[in-house]
Amino acid sequence: MQQQNRGISGVTADEVFIGNGVSELIDLSLRALLNPGDEVLVPSPDYPLWSAAVALNGGVVRHYSCSTDKGFLPDVADIESLINGKTKAIVVINPNNPSGAVYDEKTLTGIVELAERHKLVLMADEIYDQMVYDDAEFIPMATLASNAVCLTFSGLSKVYRACGYRVGWCVFSGELDRAEEYIHSMELLSALRLCSNVPGQWAVQTALGGFQSIRELVAPGGRLYQSRQAVIDRVGESRFLTAQRPMGAMYAFIRLDPRFSGRFDDQAFALELLESHHVLVAPGSSFNTPYTDHFRITTLPDTETINIVFDRIETCLEQHT
Ligand SMILES: Cc1ncc(COP(=O)(O)O)c(C=O)c1O
Repeated sequence: MQQQNRGISGVTADEVFIGNGVSELIDLSLRALLNPGDEVLVPSPDYPLWSAAVALNGGVVRHYSCSTDKGFLPDVADIESLINGKTKAIVVINPNNPSGAVYDEKTLTGIVELAERHKLVLMADEIYDQMVYDDAEFIPMATLASNAVCLTFSGLSKVYRACGYRVGWCVFSGELDRAEEYIHSMELLSALRLCSNVPGQWAVQTALGGFQSIRELVAPGGRLYQSRQAVIDRVGESRFLTAQRPMGAMYAFIRLDPRFSGRFDDQAFALELLESHHVLVAPGSSFNTPYTDHFRITTLPDTETINIVFDRIETCLEQHT
């Protein structure tokens, strides 16, 4: 129904797989697709479950760069340069965890064209689909990809704040004739785990059909909006930090000043912050980046807590200057 409302044609309940969260469906969909040595293009920074699940299912991860100086947008030419005879799929995470980037139509169309030309499967992880801020617009990949096999992943964990329910879905769309064998493999693997959590599934219709409280949370004055603004303000005031404005999801991917480079990397920073200042952040390189000067923070705590956190970050960095 959600896909039909978005104007994605040809999708029926037969093309929808329900899983114990998107996490399980990422694993299932890669297991159904990959033969040993097949390659999958995954963004860097990534949501690391994607890279891990490719490797666990016998595949090889090729990271395409979504670099800071390009606003964390994928570079279509860079993605194309990684494609070879073994490439099977392109993973796109939009809105993005950890960068908060929301991809524009030109970028998405460029990726869809690559998938069409090279007959690659598109795997669109859109679990943050309604978490966008200011004038950012979320464009579902499947609306652009009628001539490629496209898998859209979403669920109850983020937009509906019910991660403990363990409900996610994966919807096949586009060139379904080419996906028959793939869908059949998904059916077999889904049957192997018998079913996904049933009580959680009862919440899906109410969540998707009911009042969309997320809209108020991400609008100016809303709880998530205000927390994100507090992060943007504090990074702006900092002598040590810079960041792209997160336009979606619930994270900011923050860069440490170059003066720390070579002597205080992201792992050391995160550990010291935790042990000495009792603040938990995720080191940037845990999202499979080649650089070590970023960290990820969530924009979930209230503004008061965020201010305390940034006071402590400043104190920690001050001690290293
Ligand atoms: C991009 C992305 N995909 C998937 C997931 C996993 O979601 P689920 O709780 O549905 O397994 C997360 C959770 O952090 C995520 O950030």
